Amino acid sequence: MRRSVDEITGGKRLRRMRKADWSRRLVAENDLTVNDLIWPIFLIEGENRTEQIAAMPGVERLTVDLAVRAAEEAAKLGIPAVATFPNIPIEKRDTTGSNAVEDDNLINRATRAIKAAVPGIGIITDAALDPFTDHGHDGVLRDGIIVNDESVEQIVRAAVSQAAAGADIIAPSDMMDGRIGAIRDALDENGFQDVAIMSYATKYASAFYGPYREAIGTSGLLKGDKKTYYIDPANTEEALRETEADLQEGAEMVMVKPGMPYLDICRRVKETFQVPTFAYQVSGEYAMIEAAAANGWIDGERVMMESLLAFKRAGCDGVLTYFAPRAAKILAG
Ligand code: PBG
Repeated sequence: MRRSVDEITGGKRLRRMRKADWSRRLVAENDLTVNDLIWPIFLIEGENRTEQIAAMPGVERLTVDLAVRAAEEAAKLGIPAVATFPNIPIEKRDTTGSNAVEDDNLINRATRAIKAAVPGIGIITDAALDPFTDHGHDGVLRDGIIVNDESVEQIVRAAVSQAAAGADIIAPSDMMDGRIGAIRDALDENGFQDVAIMSYATKYASAFYGPYREAIGTSGLLKGDKKTYYIDPANTEEALRETEADLQEGAEMVMVKPGMPYLDICRRVKETFQVPTFAYQVSGEYAMIEAAAANGWIDGERVMMESLLAFKRAGCDGVLTYFAPRAAKILAG
């Protein structure tokens, strides 16, 4: 005997609250707002000049003066913070990334200029060495090995110089062991008690970073891969141990990177530790959405907004995304 739908569902009909825009809004469980967005921007030397990034259509490298304009625009839109990534001239890159620790390097000049012109926006800087090394690795390379402790020394000095320039949050993306505690000690020692740390706690050895390496000019330089210091994409438990260590060492916030393929990690990290958790929707994720949209294969704008909301649903407090200004404009109506 074939049952009626009401007999099957016991009279429950989940579609009732989906019937109209007002009822869907009323029962929506998650919400994306401009307060959830962090905008990563790329820096180059020079003045009043931009460069296109072929694999990231719509994203440009900016000279410091234009980065200030971008930060002004972001602040006007209500975006809480920018994250800066420099494309360092090749002649300034070396095996230990020595330019990373110089007070007047590109990243620190940008921080000073943005702080002076746009005091209301947060500045997040990365203390990893990869933009500064001539081999494209995040640490110091010795005899084919990224040496942990010497890298930490150099990353700590970079972090202190970034704090001195006015960075609000140090976000080390290098995955060296012990770097969070070492950065915390050095920041405190140097009077930067108010500078916070956002740890790239679970950074995976991912192929989704490809376009970023073009953006900061490391793709042609990188020898080998980063599997000896980033996490294996197969692992979850290790990501939780890494997050626990970074929190014990003093990180205020943790990040999961990449984003979309790792939403399960976002959820596990948030549920396990209940601390501010961010995802980095990385360059390859951006490029995939843009490429499909450019071909007319997807509705780029809707996919962009859906992808960002998905991070909130997965438990994230915010997202680093190249879409930040576009999403902010849509959110503003
Ligand atoms: C390296 C770093 C990476 C990204 C930011 N800093 C990864 C890498 O080059 O290995 C990736 C960001 C992106 O893909 O958008 N410290």
